[in-house]
Amino acid sequence: MLEIDNVSKTYGLGDDRTSTVKALDSVDMTIDRGEFVSIIGPTGCGKSTLFELIGGLVEPTEGRIRIEGDPVTGPDPRIGMVFQSHSTFPWLSVLQNVTFGLRMNGVDKAERRRRATEMLDLVGLTGFENARPSELSGGMNQRVAIARTLVMEPDIVLMDEPFGALDEQTRLILGEELLRIWRETGATILFVTHNINEAAQLSDRIAVMSARPGRFKAIVENDIPRPRDGDTMTTAAFNDLVQRLWNELKDESRRGLEQKTGRRVDAESGDGAEAKAETRPADT
Ligand SMILES: Nc1ncnc2c1ncn2[C@@H]1O[C@H](COP(=O)(O)OP(=O)(O)O)[C@@H](O)[C@H]1O
Ligand SMILES: [Mg+2]
Repeated sequence: MLEIDNVSKTYGLGDDRTSTVKALDSVDMTIDRGEFVSIIGPTGCGKSTLFELIGGLVEPTEGRIRIEGDPVTGPDPRIGMVFQSHSTFPWLSVLQNVTFGLRMNGVDKAERRRRATEMLDLVGLTGFENARPSELSGGMNQRVAIARTLVMEPDIVLMDEPFGALDEQTRLILGEELLRIWRETGATILFVTHNINEAAQLSDRIAVMSARPGRFKAIVENDIPRPRDGDTMTTAAFNDLVQRLWNELKDESRRGLEQKTGRRVDAESGDGAEAKAETRPADT
């Protein structure tokens, strides 16, 4: 479905582009139709850059991305995106937000309404058609954003920390709902998160990225049987997976922090046991 073939990205900085920053280095992965893949990695390691490349918004410096064998050369209707926030238009109603893309594509009004109504039902927003985003909670806004994207029926959905701004309970509920929607639509999902638990709960595979320049340091298979609910998250298998992911991630998080602050970060900060209890390393 999606091939990320040895992709590197170097950005030129400043007007004359004399200095550069290597955001991604030889990222390589093939993703099957219907897979749910999470990507975790320190801040600034190139996760959003990878999505911009897949979405055809920027070009790779080296390597290629292919969707069903076709090289990506620009935005592709087979790709949909959901971001952490600002994915909805505040001046439009919920219904208008969800029908916006269909209208741009010239879909007639009755059909727009039919598809949007179905999608709003899928994300649990029936009855809120006429509300404005400002009247809704953060979680409901993200439901609108998800509906807006899914109504276009993309084959691949790129979700860049979609629940990053939400409280823990909302995040858990939306996580379970996303799994249900994923089953019902059969979409291929790539999901960036800072939350190791969330990655372990949702995905078939988890790609752990290194600090900048971002590489795939490890790609971890998640064999925990579905459906995964609240009880799953208390099992030993789940905790082992979380521990393993954190082991892969912790040195990279430290390096990422050092890059960001320009200071050495003490090796003690965020060790296994502590991180496991908290399950969310301070700033990954
Ligand atoms: N348009 C751009 N121009 C220059 N540098 C960029 C641009 N976009 C991202 N970068 C740099 O690339 C690196 C990776 O950024 P990003 O992909 O946003 O990381 P992440 O999403 O993992 O936090 C960062 O160092 C960032 O400053
Ligand atoms: Mg990002």
